[in-house]
Amino acid sequence: MHEALRKEIETYEKRTPRSREAHKKAVERLPLGVASNYRAYDPYPIFVREGKGGHIHDVDGNEYVDFNLCFGALMAGHCHPAVVSAVQKKLSTGTMFGMPHDMEWELAEEICKRFPVEMVRFGNSGTESTMHAVRLARAATGRDRIIKMEGGYHGLHDSALVSVKPKENEVGDPNAPNSVPGGEGIPKATLQNTLVAQFNDPASVERLFAKYPNEIAAVIVEPIMMNVGILMPDPGYHQALREITKKNGALLIFDEVKTGAKLARGGACEYFNIEPDIVCLAKSIGGGFSLAAFASTRRVMGLISDHRVFHGGTYNTNPVAMAAGLATFREVLTPAAYEHVNRLNKKLVDGYEKEVKKSGLDAYLASAGSNGALMFFPKTIRNYRDWLKIDSEIWRHYWFAMVNRGVMAQPYWWDEQWTVSVAHTDADIDRHLEAFAEIAPALAAAQKEPHVVTAAH
Ligand SMILES: Cc1ncc(COP(=O)(O)O)c(C=O)c1O
Repeated sequence: MHEALRKEIETYEKRTPRSREAHKKAVERLPLGVASNYRAYDPYPIFVREGKGGHIHDVDGNEYVDFNLCFGALMAGHCHPAVVSAVQKKLSTGTMFGMPHDMEWELAEEICKRFPVEMVRFGNSGTESTMHAVRLARAATGRDRIIKMEGGYHGLHDSALVSVKPKENEVGDPNAPNSVPGGEGIPKATLQNTLVAQFNDPASVERLFAKYPNEIAAVIVEPIMMNVGILMPDPGYHQALREITKKNGALLIFDEVKTGAKLARGGACEYFNIEPDIVCLAKSIGGGFSLAAFASTRRVMGLISDHRVFHGGTYNTNPVAMAAGLATFREVLTPAAYEHVNRLNKKLVDGYEKEVKKSGLDAYLASAGSNGALMFFPKTIRNYRDWLKIDSEIWRHYWFAMVNRGVMAQPYWWDEQWTVSVAHTDADIDRHLEAFAEIAPALAAAQKEPHVVTAAH
């Protein structure tokens, strides 16, 4: 660890003694002291007390401008008044019934107006959404195998938890990547059914279709890979995936868990002008509540109507989450909101670019819609293997230094990105940029010192 990073971590520890104590207690009862592995990092994570709009306070009373926003699930910001008011009304009229109600049709309509889909089913998490999408695709084609991209993330079910963050010595031939389980407990049979291709390389997908004719049900893809910072598709990439899947009788699944609400009103489908067969939504559509959806054509969703594919769930469409979702679609994710976050994000990215240039930092900015990331790599990454070379040591220096200056620049981990919310203001962006301007020279200096560039996984 280089000296400047060591000092920032020292400062972090001085500022957050209550988080350290809370974590010490938590590890006794929760593995890693957290409820999701993504929340664990050294020396210990910040424990949060409350949030409002674009700001949060931790248990030590430190305030942060929050660009983490629950891993991008809060384009609405914390406690958006429209969401809070809609939810409050439901809290006194019943929070779950396990029976149909009007808001289901209403929210399905909102989704069908924005996305090229005809029918919708709801759930509670992105994991659920992609799990059901994959099952539908298998049923629709009578095939078992799926293709995912190396480094792509689609949640935690067995078929998806493959080659999410494989190590350099596990990935194998770039033209025929290995299917690497994301931990133990994933059946070998499942691994055989999840084939891995390279993002931005349609030929790698075609090779798999040629190798397994009539065996591949679907290609599932994050339209913009947002689990390796931000990785944009090459122009024409999604059109190529669309054509290859059609030609081979397979479905194209857009995992829009991250892009769905944030990229545009009609998500990546609108942004890239693509009609996938199935769209998966979660995170920011719920305005701060657990809400997810998967949606497709009448033909594909008809498999559920015909009792050929089963879908259920006790918590599905509970009135609280649905009220939050409706308020989010109707009152938060408005054309004016997209203008606002796009403008602020552009200002943020432009400001970063100016400082990167001025300081001589070897890094570039990647951005789309309300999201952005500072990528510590000299050239634009095109796939997961490029991302593996990101300088995670300098990234850690960046993250701790920003946190110490009251800016939660993005979630912890260098595979994430920041989100600008409707609640953020010009002053919040100015504060973010001021903090970065203060630390950029130290980052540039540390980058020039000899240090071990740890593999980024
Ligand atoms: C693209 C993508 N798909 C699926 C998921 C899983 O969503 P959840 O954490 O709600 O299960 C995530 C979560 O980060 C995601 O980024």
